[in-house]
Amino acid sequence: MQKQPNKRWGFAAVIAAGLVIVAALATRDRGAVVETKDSPVGSAPAATTSVVDVEDGGTFELRAGYVQKEVDGRANRMMAYNGSIPGPVLRVRQGSTVTVRFANGLEEPTTVHWHGIRVTNANDGVPDVTQAPVAPGGEFAYELRFPDPGVYWYHPHVREDKQQDLGMYGNILVAPEDDAYWPKADREEFLVLDDIVASNGFLGPHHDDLTDYALMGRYGNVLLVNGAKAWDVRAAAGEVLRVYVTNVANARPFRVTFPGASVTLVGSDAGRVADPRAVDGVTLAPSERAVLHVQWPSAGTYAIEHRTPDRAYRLGTATVGEGTTASDVVAAPAPGDFAAIRPHLAKAVDMTWRLDVATAHMMHHASGSGPIEWEDDMRMMNAHMTDQTTEWKIVDPATGKVNMDIPMRWKTGEYVKIRIDNDASSDHPMQHPIHIHGQRFVVAAVDGVPNDKLEWKDTVLVPKGSKVDVVVELSNPGEWMVHCHVAEHLEAGMMAMMMIEGEDAVPKQ
Ligand code: C2O
Ligand code: CU
Ligand code: CU
Repeated sequence: MQKQPNKRWGFAAVIAAGLVIVAALATRDRGAVVETKDSPVGSAPAATTSVVDVEDGGTFELRAGYVQKEVDGRANRMMAYNGSIPGPVLRVRQGSTVTVRFANGLEEPTTVHWHGIRVTNANDGVPDVTQAPVAPGGEFAYELRFPDPGVYWYHPHVREDKQQDLGMYGNILVAPEDDAYWPKADREEFLVLDDIVASNGFLGPHHDDLTDYALMGRYGNVLLVNGAKAWDVRAAAGEVLRVYVTNVANARPFRVTFPGASVTLVGSDAGRVADPRAVDGVTLAPSERAVLHVQWPSAGTYAIEHRTPDRAYRLGTATVGEGTTASDVVAAPAPGDFAAIRPHLAKAVDMTWRLDVATAHMMHHASGSGPIEWEDDMRMMNAHMTDQTTEWKIVDPATGKVNMDIPMRWKTGEYVKIRIDNDASSDHPMQHPIHIHGQRFVVAAVDGVPNDKLEWKDTVLVPKGSKVDVVVELSNPGEWMVHCHVAEHLEAGMMAMMMIEGEDAVPKQ
């Protein structure tokens, strides 16, 4: 690892009371800092996130570039789609087809991945698998289809640990064909959860040529809620807000709570759940989504919090005014959405993925005791572990093969049961959000206990020491990635490929 002095912040010009003070900012040695372009000079201030309706057959222009954004009290150069963090919300109709003309205004290659959407394989945005990376100044036209209603998101599939962390993410809302698909709500809101490493306003650097924080992933110390410090929402008492929540953090799991409100879980990663139900809160690992109906009973000010077993973080505040009488919305169960997959849930396990790690300098070390690491309690050590000294692994015990060497070949129309075994005896056991591209699945059992709360997932959080059985509905032909959605784990190798042959079995509407 090459050590370079960090000069990237250069000089800051401060104009005060008619005096021009040129202050040289301290050169901050953080080890091998090679990211040299964080200066706000030359980038426009970040815009506010817009919601854009894109018609069937329509075209949308999406551009990656740099913006200036204040985080932790200082303007930083970050990366953004169409100049805002989060990027624009694309609102489309289920069954429609849309062209996204993407332009790369970054000084590094990138691609756009449409997380959770069963697009055709050529449009999946995986570099060197479904397309060549889009070079700086380059373009790519994505032809997207939207078979499933619900909330999805887009992000780069090149250096997620850096590009996504620096602000490249946005939601896609697929409005259902059937107007009665969701229980009634008065309004829709988005809640996008992120965190970032910052100290005294300086964003923690990212290396150009390696990924750090490779052991635990990069847990930030500053939360970004809808790209800001906090989410401030206004509502009337009794009003029902449908809140689409997305975790876009590199590594941090969130437990979202609305103390004082009644909260109903109505949707998950890919559409509505089989059994809508009252919940205290919802745990979301990186890339997972939840659709919540939130209703505050009376006027007042309410906190919105991320609550771990040990502490509470404020995510925002709801200011609730007087309202009409609460409309009692009863969310109807939707068992029909799962009729085709239900008979396959009890089948035998077809294959196991055992989760493991190998590091150059690691003893057996678990930093926390619970099944989920809510914090990085070993930040210094973690910060210095890179993708060159750490290999995260998906292991196929049947063949002994690891990651990209694991043979997986199936056909559309099949259902496969995969047991994800998060080995508690590995060198560093921790939770992993395991994501499958291009298909959808349900959790059939956790530690042998059948799951009766069905929901369509594209990512499942596998806690430390757990065995989670998922049944994947194979519908979409092509070469699809499977990987951990901790960005640093992906960069450190934790990925495999599924080859799916046969006819396209994704519904066309
Ligand atoms: Cu969110 Cu491989 O993706
Ligand atoms: Cu994905
Ligand atoms: Cu992982």
